[in-house]
Amino acid sequence: MSIDRRALLAGSAGVGVALSSTRLTGAGADAAGAGALPMPQPGDALPEPLPVVDPNGIRFERGWLFHEGDIPVAPPQGHHETYLSVKAGNARGAAAVDFDDGDWAAVDLPHDWASFQPFVETANVSQGFRPRGIGWYRRRFRLDPADRGRRLEVHFDGIATHAQIWVNGNLVARSWSGYSAITVDLTPFAVFGDEANVIAIRVDAEAMEGWWYEGAGIYRHVWLVRRAPVAIATDGVHCDPRKRAGGWHVPVTVTVDNIERAAVPVTVQATLIAPDGRTLADARGEGSAPSLGMGEVTLDLQVGVPALWSVESPHLHRVEVRLFRDGQPVDGRSVPIGFRLVRFDPHRGLHVNDRPVKLKGVCLHQDHAGVGVAVPDALLQWRLERLKAMGCNAIRCSHNAPTPEFLHLCDRMGFLVMNENRIFNPSPDYLAQLEWLVRRDRNHPCVILWSVFNEEPMQGTAAGVEMVRRMAAAVKRLDDARPVTAAMNGSFYDPVNVSQVVDVMGFNYYQNDYDRFHAANPRLPVTSSEDTSAFQTRGAFRTDAAAHVHTSYDEEAADWGGTHRATWQRIAERPFVAGGFVWTGFDYHGEPTPHAWPTVSSFFGIMDLCGFPKTAFDIHRAHWVDERPVVSIAPHWTWPGREGEPVKVVVMSNAERVTLRLDGRMVGEGAIDRIAGREWTVPYRPGRIEVEAWRGGRIVARAAHETAGPPVALRLTPARTRMRGDGEDAQPVTIDAVDAHGRHVPTANLPTRFTVAGATILGVGNGDPNSHEAEKGGARSLFNGLAQVIVQAAPGTGPIRIRAEADGLRPATLALARVAARVPAQVATVADETLVRGWRRSPPLAAAPAPTLAPADGDNNSWELVRSGTATPAAAARGWRVYRSTLRPRRRLAARGGTIEMEGVAGAATLWVDGRQVATKSDAAPAPMRAALAPGSEPRTLVLIVDAPAGRPSGIVGAVRVR
Ligand code: GAL
Repeated sequence: MSIDRRALLAGSAGVGVALSSTRLTGAGADAAGAGALPMPQPGDALPEPLPVVDPNGIRFERGWLFHEGDIPVAPPQGHHETYLSVKAGNARGAAAVDFDDGDWAAVDLPHDWASFQPFVETANVSQGFRPRGIGWYRRRFRLDPADRGRRLEVHFDGIATHAQIWVNGNLVARSWSGYSAITVDLTPFAVFGDEANVIAIRVDAEAMEGWWYEGAGIYRHVWLVRRAPVAIATDGVHCDPRKRAGGWHVPVTVTVDNIERAAVPVTVQATLIAPDGRTLADARGEGSAPSLGMGEVTLDLQVGVPALWSVESPHLHRVEVRLFRDGQPVDGRSVPIGFRLVRFDPHRGLHVNDRPVKLKGVCLHQDHAGVGVAVPDALLQWRLERLKAMGCNAIRCSHNAPTPEFLHLCDRMGFLVMNENRIFNPSPDYLAQLEWLVRRDRNHPCVILWSVFNEEPMQGTAAGVEMVRRMAAAVKRLDDARPVTAAMNGSFYDPVNVSQVVDVMGFNYYQNDYDRFHAANPRLPVTSSEDTSAFQTRGAFRTDAAAHVHTSYDEEAADWGGTHRATWQRIAERPFVAGGFVWTGFDYHGEPTPHAWPTVSSFFGIMDLCGFPKTAFDIHRAHWVDERPVVSIAPHWTWPGREGEPVKVVVMSNAERVTLRLDGRMVGEGAIDRIAGREWTVPYRPGRIEVEAWRGGRIVARAAHETAGPPVALRLTPARTRMRGDGEDAQPVTIDAVDAHGRHVPTANLPTRFTVAGATILGVGNGDPNSHEAEKGGARSLFNGLAQVIVQAAPGTGPIRIRAEADGLRPATLALARVAARVPAQVATVADETLVRGWRRSPPLAAAPAPTLAPADGDNNSWELVRSGTATPAAAARGWRVYRSTLRPRRRLAARGGTIEMEGVAGAATLWVDGRQVATKSDAAPAPMRAALAPGSEPRTLVLIVDAPAGRPSGIVGAVRVR
């Protein structure tokens, strides 16, 4: 499909604005487009679908019900109630199968309920002053009778923070980490056909695992996985590319899971597919999976000389694994892998494929303006693209497991990842979290380091050492190819400290200690695991302590950190330091250091919470981009009222010399240091300030700012002109104000409003750490010239239209193409219904009983517990049975009443509600029974008296619905 980008954007602002950027510089090109938006031009490439490793899963993210706040349940009182309350399937309160969730809100996942909250001064500062609290989710779903006998799992990729999960009234999982996936094995609890399964989840987001914004709720993907009874286990393929004398090979270990009643022999085939689709190697192996256990099959793929994976050329191969049973394929996985040699050298730093690579890294939290921690995959990709454009090649997932999608993107885009464990604790529950992380992520070529902790007070103690030893050993049992590190912030020289038991020593800050530590530990490789912690407010060039605003001139940092330039200087000039990870790539909610209320998000980012670049972006671009010339000027050049005042101008470039001009007149010239840049003081005068960057006597890049006049119109600029109409694709759209000449106005701070069609607004932001405006809805003020609206394409095709308005300004409209795309299959939703499932059944009675007949409260045994749909076996003689149950009408039934529908009753029968006969069935053959149910919210006692003929099954042989 070809799109005319100009036509699409023509409506925008109604002024002839060339969409170019001061950030895009190229040899000889006047890319400055002075006054243009400080963001890249929109592209039209759609995000590639992420790899489908396990074909057995479908999304389970639509039609959930959500209740904010806890739902306490009173403890049982009567004996029988108490007795039943602790039986399988009988969870009470909101976890109960029949709980009335009729007034809960419908939500789609991923969902971060904290991102909907207002900012409240009494809430936790580190978590961004947002009340988190407790919430409940419920979801009904049906399973096809054809799924009987298959292995059924639900995978929750992340629930913040503690969670309890019930399936059909059984507590099936307790999760103690918002960053670990939860795999729920539904198989033994599942019901099939018409009867719906019910998942209930209580989420405790009062619990905290971090000192940053962690969100609240089911904020990562959820899958329903249906597999053959003998199948490859979850995370059950390990591909471990190794180089040896004769070339590369890939040991492949496949874990096979069997839920059948006997051991099953299996055959596994693994095929290595090259990036161009050629088959490079193939292997088969035999094995066996024990009943209700796991078997392993190991294979070896002989490869020779494959295309290597690297930051510059992230060539991905695929291992296609197929599982055969009796010669028939029953399961498969498609695992992306990469061939790369990673070596940390104590003197020469990191080497990838035997070439030195400096880690030009950033630490990240999963968090973005408008969406909180529920960051759509496409937005994760956009954020990584922004980092790539800055020359960043490494990411530390601080301080927790990332999403699987994030690692797939890093594999594909060529980032090196330090993958970090959350809680430092080798006891079984927490060790299981670390082992899960390694098992899930060890196939990713991007992962080069496992970090067992971040800044632990026990790092200089014998106990700390013992803890690291155990955690490192757990990692090595699952992956002995990658080094283990720990991010230390002290105790480096204590006689006993954890640097003695890691493969790579991680320095958080303490940049003046690199040399001393290296001299004392010449055989231990070293990296900075965290550094910088500088403060910048995007678009601000004067610190105002009272207003909690920080200049972006790269002058301020936390006491323990350093400016961007000083920090990189210390890393760059030491070959033995593998590299660094700037705290942080992007701002995040919470941790408003060095402030507190009313500041609600951080100042550390190279980019703000929306991904708008601060001066730090240009600084790192000059430091890190090697393959093309770059140049930038800070600040912008719109300072009404400051005419004649001296303005500090910072130029950053990776070129040799720069020339600075104001309205064509040279105001500065000279060689430029790539790390420090160059600074001049220029008396302010409205006009055009421009820099030329020179290399080898030639101008290789330019940048400029032009003084803008008052804003007259809004402008909308997407990241992309096209979106996938799959209901998931999302992108940030920038809104700014332009002057009468179409120039970006960097000082505009005015309120704007948006409407969209063909898409939904996921959230809004503007990167101001002090803003308390809502991040949901259709309004947001510009902050220092910019705001962002994050849109998600609705399923389907046709244009997406966005309109932005501001009082007194010409509105902007934008049309984006929405292209046909496969909408991911979702588990179907099920309408709310009341089922009467459980009954107590009397012993056989020789004579017709009274409907009041009931077991004594302490009698657990003489009346059996039976389920609807289960026939009472035939008896030799005629006899009567009483079936008793309690119906608690849901809101809708209570208000309007309804009908009791018994799908099948075998034997002549009478049905009673609260002692009143409501239906009769005189024929013994199985047939339905129906009766009206009067409105009213009080519980009703249902009694069915069945006259069972001799020699024939009887009782409640079908489902019982009330609707
Ligand atoms: C570090 C910590 C980070 C962040 C940072 C702020 O000590 O590891 O998570 O809090 O300080 O400077």
